[in-house]
Formats: sequence, structure tokens, C-alpha cells
Amino acid sequence: ESTLGAAAAQSGRYFGVAIAANRLSDSTYATIAAREFNSVTAENEMKIDATEPQRGQFSFTAADRVYNWAVQNGKKVRGHTLAWHSQQPSWMQSLSGSTLRQAMIDHINGVMGHYKGKITQWDVVNEAFADGSSGARRDSNLQRTGNDWIEVAFRTARAADPSAKLCYNDYNVEDWTWAKTQAVYAMVRDFKQRGVPIDCVGFQSHFNSGSPYNSNFRTTLQNFAALGVDVAVTELDIQGAPASTYSNVVNDCLAVSRCLGVTVWGVRDSDSWRSDQTPLLFNNDGSKKSAYTAVLNALNGG
Ligand code: G3I
Repeated sequence: ESTLGAAAAQSGRYFGVAIAANRLSDSTYATIAAREFNSVTAENEMKIDATEPQRGQFSFTAADRVYNWAVQNGKKVRGHTLAWHSQQPSWMQSLSGSTLRQAMIDHINGVMGHYKGKITQWDVVNEAFADGSSGARRDSNLQRTGNDWIEVAFRTARAADPSAKLCYNDYNVEDWTWAKTQAVYAMVRDFKQRGVPIDCVGFQSHFNSGSPYNSNFRTTLQNFAALGVDVAVTELDIQGAPASTYSNVVNDCLAVSRCLGVTVWGVRDSDSWRSDQTPLLFNNDGSKKSAYTAVLNALNGG
């Protein structure tokens, strides 16, 4: 196959991309995105600040621009993200306790209700664990509502849209030896044991010199899958975009039957949140980088 999406589909997987609504009018960008990918994540437009700018007043204008473009171009959509300490609107940042807990529940119901039956996977909770060696939860206003906030989010999400796969999504959980990885693993194992509804774990995979790719990523994916959840690479970018690392990541996903697919976090280097690291598959002029060819070859089985 000659495109990333079609090549991934040979094994029943997808190859996705993060899309920014305000870039869709750039024809180079839109042409590559429409041609190469078969899954879309909104880079910012489905986040809390974008979808509920005032409490109880939902706004889906930008989110629907991304969603409609994806569907019109034959792509499925990952939802990102419903409960997160970051990109909270100012009204939510100032809430605490039971008021914040209820606002989180209302937010999940509002956004998942709007897209009910239309989203393949939702990142229900994003980045809830601390960096470093503690293995602790991240301190946040949501965490301070009580340690059960994550399972409440997942139970709410299951009721709001039973057809969506419900994911926990985080970064620096790719290396099996990291404390954060082990902490998330313990939470997922506990959720599965107690029947908390969780279907998938998203590994963001923002690799750079500070958080490098390690070949034990495959072990991580296998161990999580063995708990009875699907896994996905959800926000892939790699500093310098070495072709070998890109193909290693793709091969790690292909080696795990429960790995649903890979999403890269932008189209061209100039579209990246880390554009100075030139971490993506396309140059600024839209031409394919060597990492693109490595990924395509890996998806094609070789
Ligand atoms: O839209 C405003 C614009 O009106 C304003 O003029 C401009 C000035 O700074 O800011 C614009 O908003 C920015 C937004 O991106 C859209 O470009 C925000 O400041 C900026 O913070 C925001 O950054 C996003 C970041 O999440 C926020 O946390 C990145 O685009 C996005 O790639 C990044 O994505 C995250 C994932 O959601 C979660 N995992 C990590 C990943 C990378 O940080």
C-alpha cells in the first residue's frame, strides 16, 4: 500500500494524525492529511476549555470542524480529552470539592452526549500521574476532589456513550522500568479487578533526549494488553525523527495484537508543538522525510 492509513489497515489497525482546525484551510496540510491518515484526533478542539468555555454552555464549533472534516474524508475519530488538569477553562480552575466533581461529570456527559455513537475511542482521563519516581497521582484540583475521581470519570463515560472505547492516556509511560509506567499499570490492573469500565490505554509517546524511546516499549504494550485492555500509540513524535526509531515504534504496535493503531501528533514539522525538534513525518514544504518511508515500510510488513 502507498499511504500510511491503507498500509495500517492491512492488519486491521489505523494510522492517525492530530488535526488543528485552523490549519485545514492550508491546502498542503489538508491534502497530506486527507491522503495519508485514516484516523483523526483534534489537537485542542475537544478539550475542556474549547468545549465548555462557560459552565454549562457547550461550544462545539471548532470541534465539529475537525470532526466533520474527518468524517467527510472517511476517517474515524479519537476523542481527546474529557478530564484533565490542564487546559481547564478559568471557571473550572477555580472550582474544588463536590462542585468540581459534579462539573467534571456534567462535562463528560455534555461532550460525550454531543458525539454519542460517533467516537471510536475517548481519552476519558489524561495525564493523572506525577512525573518522576514517586509513582503518585499528580496533584491537581481534580485529584483533590478525592482519589476516586478517575473511576468516577470512567463510570460516567461508560453510561454517556456505551459504544466508545474508554482510554486512560499519558506520557512517560512507555518505558517499562519507569515508576510512572508501573503506577498506571497498577491502576489499570485494579480497575479491571474491580470492574471499573476501562477499555484502553493510550501511550502518548513524545520521545526526545529527556524521555527517550526504549525497546522495552513492546514489553510495556504487551503487559498492559495482558490485563485485558487495548493499547494505542496516541501522540507520537520523536526528536529529530530518526527513521529507525519511528519504525521500531510501529513494529512494537504491530507485534501486539491488542494495539489498535498509531497516531502522530501533527502533519509537518512546522505543525508540531515541538517544531524546533523536527519530530514528525513531513517536512515544512510537505515532502516526505526518511521517517515516513520507514513507517510505511514497517506497516507494509517489511
Ligand atoms: O488559540 C490560542 C490563540 O488564540 C492565542 O493567540 C495563542 C497565544 O499563545 O494561544 C492559542 O492557544 C494555544 C493552543 O495550543 C492552540 O495553538 C495555547 O496557548 C497552547 O497552550 C496550546 O498548546 C497545546 C497544548 O497541548 C496545551 O496543553 C498544543 O497545541 C497541543 O499540541 C498540546 O497537546 C498535548 C496533548 O493535548 C496532551 N499530551 C501532550 C501534548 C503536547 O503538549
